[in-house]
Amino acid sequence: NAISLKDSYKKDFYIGTALDTNQIAGKNSKEDFLIKKEFNAITAENIMKSMYMHPVKGKYDFTFSDKFVAYGEKHKMFIHGHTLIWHSQLAPWIAEIKDSTEMKALMKDHITTIVSKYKGRINSWDVVNEALNEDGTLRKSVFLNTLGEQYLIDAFKLAAAADPKADLYYNDYNNEEPAKREGNINMIKKIKAAGGKIDGVGIQAHWRLDSPSIEVIEESILAYAALGLKVAFTELDITVLPNPWDLKGADVNQNFEGSAQMNPYPEQLPESVQVKLTERYASIFKLFLKHKDKISRVTFWGVHDGQSWLNNWPIKGRTNYPLLFDKDLKPKKAYQSVLKLK
Ligand code: XIL
Repeated sequence: NAISLKDSYKKDFYIGTALDTNQIAGKNSKEDFLIKKEFNAITAENIMKSMYMHPVKGKYDFTFSDKFVAYGEKHKMFIHGHTLIWHSQLAPWIAEIKDSTEMKALMKDHITTIVSKYKGRINSWDVVNEALNEDGTLRKSVFLNTLGEQYLIDAFKLAAAADPKADLYYNDYNNEEPAKREGNINMIKKIKAAGGKIDGVGIQAHWRLDSPSIEVIEESILAYAALGLKVAFTELDITVLPNPWDLKGADVNQNFEGSAQMNPYPEQLPESVQVKLTERYASIFKLFLKHKDKISRVTFWGVHDGQSWLNNWPIKGRTNYPLLFDKDLKPKKAYQSVLKLK
């Protein structure tokens, strides 16, 4: 079977996947075959986050990022770096910084060291990840607390100086929703006005069967593209499971592990939900194709259902079905529906 996602969408946009350490080691040969067959872009799922790559002050660990980049080069893939400045999976020593001078020095060292190391090899970067609250205001973080909103401008300037040719992205979730989108647009305008180079916006696209609506996604593609930005869908997956914060009156901190209500399909996905997922993927990709001139990349957050982070988030130990390949690496009906559009 010569047909694949990457070949079918070759003229439209990159089709990517997130990879973690065991995948770049090629330990599972069936999975490795699938990655090479279907995808032409890769994002590091975890290995380039500061807690792993810069765990101690002045000490970088490039063991796995080197392997990740080599894997992408070997297979002629588009390589995306994720992520330079993020409040989460943050090296503990960075979280402790209180002083603005020290934070400025850290940002300069961190961004310059990493981006220049892979200059000309990593094609694009998530320079800043998840800096916004749902209402579009700036999220409190050690970066905002020590440097104010100047940290955003500095981050993009430093990355551009380290590799002028790499595409620089701001990446977030729910940034297709109107309030957050509005905040995102204002923030990007400020960064640009202050001389920061920003080439694109990443919409993570951790979506659900029923939201966001196709209309809201389309408005976002148009709004971001109107700023002259490339639009990338950077972490696409579609959960089919209930989320604790949807339960009226439920305490979201309650321990739902092992709850049958929260893990309704431990063995297999019922046909009716499979149909919904298939239709959802088809309508999303139909929209992507409509705006292919504005979209640079569509990356799935994982290769197959068996290793998706959504089996463990926001509740551990569930069985989710968010991707195009099932846990046995077989293409799902959703995969066929995405291919059929071409
Ligand atoms: C997730 C990974 O998939 C998990 O393996 C890890 O435990 C937590 O982080 N937004 C992001 C990604 O930008 O880096 C996150 O990845 C998912 C949410």
